[in-house]
Amino acid sequence: MDKVFVLDFGSQYTQLIARKIRELGVYSEVFPFNLPLSRIKTENPGAIILSGGPQSVYAPESPTVSEEIFQLGIPILGICYGLQIMAHVLGGKVKPSKKREYGFAHLDVKDRKGLLSGIKDRGQVWMSHGDKVHDVPPGFLISGRTSNCRAAVIESQKMKIFGVQFHPEVIHTTQGLRVLANFLFRQAGLKKEWKMGSFIQAKVQEIRDQVGKERVICGLSGGVDSLVASLIIHKAIKDRLTCIFVDNGLLRKGQFQELLKSFRHQFSLNVIGVDASESFLERLERVISPERKRKIIGKEFIRIFEQEAKKIGKVPFLGQGTIYPDVIESNPVKGPSSKIKSHHNVGGLPKNLSFRLVEPLKELFKDEVRELGRELGVEKDFILQHPFPGPGLAVRIVGEVTRERLKIIREADEILIQEIKKARLYNKLWQAFTVLLPVKSVGVMGDRRTYQRVVVLRLVRSVDGMTADWYPANTDVLSRISSRIVNEVDGVNRVVYDITAKPPGTIEWE
Ligand code: XMP
Repeated sequence: MDKVFVLDFGSQYTQLIARKIRELGVYSEVFPFNLPLSRIKTENPGAIILSGGPQSVYAPESPTVSEEIFQLGIPILGICYGLQIMAHVLGGKVKPSKKREYGFAHLDVKDRKGLLSGIKDRGQVWMSHGDKVHDVPPGFLISGRTSNCRAAVIESQKMKIFGVQFHPEVIHTTQGLRVLANFLFRQAGLKKEWKMGSFIQAKVQEIRDQVGKERVICGLSGGVDSLVASLIIHKAIKDRLTCIFVDNGLLRKGQFQELLKSFRHQFSLNVIGVDASESFLERLERVISPERKRKIIGKEFIRIFEQEAKKIGKVPFLGQGTIYPDVIESNPVKGPSSKIKSHHNVGGLPKNLSFRLVEPLKELFKDEVRELGRELGVEKDFILQHPFPGPGLAVRIVGEVTRERLKIIREADEILIQEIKKARLYNKLWQAFTVLLPVKSVGVMGDRRTYQRVVVLRLVRSVDGMTADWYPANTDVLSRISSRIVNEVDGVNRVVYDITAKPPGTIEWE
């Protein structure tokens, strides 16, 4: 099967490139930019992509590639920094631009014989760069430009080497997929052979190689990711997997009992249910900082996993449903982005973890995990449920988590979800949930003054959780939700609607 190597120069979009290539039907994997040439030669990928990155090619110690990579006869596409490093190494000139170009531009197509075949003129492209290619390397042609960038697309048909200054992998570049497809199929001559089924086979083998004859425990959070991770690990090692579903006291109403039943009966997983709500809530007493909450919860989960593992015997591995956005937002080691928050299954883990991790979904985005879940036989309703964060309702109660506040948010959340489902909105949204604020406001109910809490409604649409738009819900629906919450939930007298996109907000409030 053809495969594409994406060499990572530190862009926050690197995994997105790999994912778009998989979406186009070709297997793709990300490697560090300095992957040894010998490995490239032995594995002989059908094409190589050089990703973007935050550096300047002239900065000291900026990441680079050897000239030899361009002589292997493997088609190469450089994106943003990838284009610049390619031009630099091949004898072109890169210079800082007078104006940093960040955001939308329009591409003027100069030549449609190669990479830009079928690309319409003046299409929108997404730019994010300081430097640009000033002189193209010998043998290269400029096939596309924007008003601020003369060499926005360069190519050498003879060498099968191409470069684009814009980001074809992001949704804002309207013909980006077409550019990638031109590179893969027309230029590199690759075949569409990749399907989720092949991913399952490859992962099952990888898990068997990693785990050998040992045992694995896997935490189930109640969401899709951890279930799909458990199912794929189960496929690989059968009953050497034990799943642990912890009631941390921070789940939705009725979630623990319902899910425990369905994990055991529907999926025939070996699941231990642990009620640890007391110990979680005790450790969260008087804690206000969102990051501290996340760390405490992450640590407590691990303590329980260790305690349960000891009962089973020797268990060196912990399975986790970490997906790619969790990794990038918790540990952006190389990228230009800073740490956003510690997603509990990655950034919230203690440093001296006694388990080795098995994370079969680490390269995937949510919709890929959903597709994988369907392949593994998980029913539609479960697959389509909204993501629920590992730290649960703790990050939806701003300020201290108390039993009284948990009760309020559970009831408000249940009403919201009921109404969203009734209005047939649930499947159109990435997430819909309520947030409880640590403030009180004055109201009047039945001629009496009230002084009670504020609930926020958060309804967002998103493709992958990395960016999101607030959803402009119909006012009748909003008004029904608001009056039901104020009338039915004790202690709440005001409901507000969050109209913040991500960025600048995040989806969860903490
Ligand atoms: P944010 O709030 O970072 O959320 O914009 C992006 C997506 O990730 C979910 N989320 C988490 N998922 N563990 C998870 O498994 C976590 O700690 C966590 N924190 C946020 C969030 O619900 C949204 O879908």
